[in-house]
This record gives sequence, C-alpha cells and structure tokens, in this order.
Amino acid sequence: MPGRLSPHRQVPRHIPYPEYVGKAEPTLSGIDVYDEEAIDRIRESGRIAAAAIDAVGDAIRPGITTDELDRIGHEFLIANDAYPSTLGYRGFPKSLCSSINEVVCHGIPDDTVLLDGDIINIDITAFTNGMHGDSNRTFLVGEVEPDVVALVERTQEALRRGIKAAAVGRQVNVIGRAIESYAKRFGYGVVRDFTGHGVGEAFHSGLVIPHYDSPHFTNVIEPGMVFTIEPMLTLGSTEWDLWDDDWTVTTKDKSMTAQFEHTIVVREDGPEILTLSERQAS
Ligand code: MF3
Ligand code: CO
Ligand code: CO
Repeated sequence: MPGRLSPHRQVPRHIPYPEYVGKAEPTLSGIDVYDEEAIDRIRESGRIAAAAIDAVGDAIRPGITTDELDRIGHEFLIANDAYPSTLGYRGFPKSLCSSINEVVCHGIPDDTVLLDGDIINIDITAFTNGMHGDSNRTFLVGEVEPDVVALVERTQEALRRGIKAAAVGRQVNVIGRAIESYAKRFGYGVVRDFTGHGVGEAFHSGLVIPHYDSPHFTNVIEPGMVFTIEPMLTLGSTEWDLWDDDWTVTTKDKSMTAQFEHTIVVREDGPEILTLSERQAS
C-alpha cells in the first residue's frame, strides 16, 4: 500500500545537476562506448552509488521507514558531491527506489515501515563528474521465509551469470539467455518489460539489455561498451500492475520478487563491474 511522502529533499547548488532535472524528460540520449578516462569517471560514480547502498543497507531493520532510508541515501550522496540521479528524473520524487516484497521496481520511499520477514530492494544511481553509475541490491529484513531467501540469493547469482556472459563480439541477447536459463531451473518468472540499459553520460542511453532469451536484441557488444544488467525474478508470474503513483510496479499475482543490478564495462579481456564499493571490492 502506498504511504505518505516527506517534503522534497534539496541538493546543494554546488553539486552539478543532471540536465533533465526540472524538465518533463531527458533531452540527452548519449553514447554507449567510452574511453578509459570516461570509464574512470563512471567507476567513480558507481563506487559512490555502491557505498550509498552499503550505508542504507546498514540501516535496514524492522521498524525503519523507507523515507528514513531515502534520507540516509540522499545525505550520503550529497556528502560525496554526487547528485541522486532519480531525484527529478521524469518526475520521480525521491533519491532512491525502495521496492518491498511484491514490488518489482521503482517503489517510492514514504512512511511505510519495514516488517520482519520483508525483502527490500534499494536502487541508487549517483551522478558526478558528468557520469551516472547505477546499482541495486535486495536486502532481507529480519527473519525471511527460506523460499524467499533462495529467490534473493539466486537473483544475485543470475546477475553474476549475466555479467559473465557479456563478451566483446557477442550480441547483447547472450546476457538474457544466461539469466533466463538459470532462473528457469527453479521455475522463477523472469520480468520482461523492465530491462538493463546503456548508462554513463545519460541515465538511460536507449540501449536495451533484456534479461530473457530473445533473438530480437542483436546489438553487438563493443570494447568499452557500458551498460547495466538488472534482472528481476519472481516466485510467480511476470505480469505486472502499476500503482496510481505511475511509478510503483508490482507483480500482478502479488508474488515476491527480487532484483540485483550492476553497471559494467566490457573489454576484450572481459567484463568489469563499475559499481563496487570499497567494502565489496575487498
Ligand atoms: N535506477 C533504475 C534503473 O535501474 C531507474 C530508476 S528511474 C526512477 O534503471 F525514476 F524510477 F527512479
Ligand atoms: Co538501471
Ligand atoms: Co538502478
């Protein structure tokens, strides 16, 4: 159920804003292939996004509200001179997405209180040095049902397999093939209508990375190509509903759903994850 939103959070004016803030939609679509200097900047944004997720994750417990998690994420980002990319993106009102239980993605932080047994995805994108870095993870709240814990763990493994499948010269559809064939073993639904995407100068470049097996996505992966992989797996159907807030996506059958996301670059010698915090890298 939707809750109540807190007042708008400000970003200090010394932090550069993405071009879309204050507009109905972005004008920049952007490129998909970057040189090493630009990749360093995306990695820096990605590192801050991942560290912000660490900070939010440390606060997750039964009794906390998603608005409080948003405040923690927002303050972490601005303390690191990064703009929270979701804030003002196509009208999204908050600094992260918080998606609980049957919420597939794009949940809006509000006064909803986390309960023992919930799962919650925290999706944070940081914009700094002209680049976006986009990542998400699903966290357990207290004691979670074993079948739901397995869903969360296997969704993380599905992301790992999708990343491993990404190679220069292959079509992007190899990624979804790897993810879907793994998810199918457990009878999980693989969400089709929300996908990975090119990211860097633009939050969403226009390049689409499906998480299911489809011959239609034939873009060939080039050296220096940067994009996200962000599979959403469900314990039931992949059909979805949209709340009246025009953002929150739930499974139609209200089955539980988990997601993990990294921004990666692919080079001749393989993929590199660009959204690792110091804590995750060590
Ligand atoms: N970070 C999300 C993604 O992985 C996009 C969120 S857009 C928002 O692509 F407007 F919902 F915040
Ligand atoms: Co993304
Ligand atoms: Co994201």
